[in-house]
Amino acid sequence: MKEMWDNRYAENEYAYGTEPNLFFKESLKKYKLEGKILFPAEGEGRNAVYAAKKGLKAYAFDISIKGKNKALKLAKKENVDLNYEVGDFLNLNLLNEKFDVAALIFAHFPPNILNKYHTKIAELIKPNGFIILEGFSTNHLELQKENTNAGGPKNIDFLFSIDMIKNDFPDFEILLLEEKEVVLDEGKYHKAKSKVIRFIGKKIR
Ligand SMILES: C[S@@+](CC[C@H](N)C(=O)[O-])C[C@H]1O[C@@H](n2cnc3c(N)ncnc32)[C@H](O)[C@@H]1O
Repeated sequence: MKEMWDNRYAENEYAYGTEPNLFFKESLKKYKLEGKILFPAEGEGRNAVYAAKKGLKAYAFDISIKGKNKALKLAKKENVDLNYEVGDFLNLNLLNEKFDVAALIFAHFPPNILNKYHTKIAELIKPNGFIILEGFSTNHLELQKENTNAGGPKNIDFLFSIDMIKNDFPDFEILLLEEKEVVLDEGKYHKAKSKVIRFIGKKIR
């Protein structure tokens, strides 16, 4: 898994571009989010750099060192700071922090750790803090059959459903939870009609 991502990020181009994910960008603006923000599985840093440019204090983690290197390169170009760790989430220094927001943008974790990671991310959010999530839904597999360039994990156990989100984030008021068909246009790997789950939750306990 790690090797696959290191290989993808070894390319010169940014796999998902250098612009932030649109749903993330709009949500940040709509809810006027500020403070400390966590980016699980942040890859090459497009969302974290955007948040830092908007004045938030951005923390990110991933398993790919190549992703981190490209994220730091982008941060330097944009003249912002990122706190970016590589490794197993449950062993990272950022577990000592509490966050105002977590943004999970196509953060598709292996099924054996997914629920554990979601639970831990929820724990790290301050009361009244937010989770923003966009990721491929289980129904995205049908679109992958129609279009082999549709992107996203091929294994259904890596994909999201509305029930999974409700189950994983019980301490959050649901401000938005929907499955939506969208046309992604993010770098060369997310460029097609796609089915996504979108979630905005506010921590209530
Ligand atoms: C589709 S990319 C999304 C990257 C970024 N969030 C974005 O939207 O540009 C998925 C990311 O998940 C990361 N990843 C996969 N398994 C992981 C794990 N167990 N821990 C941390 N990151 C992981 C990959 O390295 C990759 O960067």
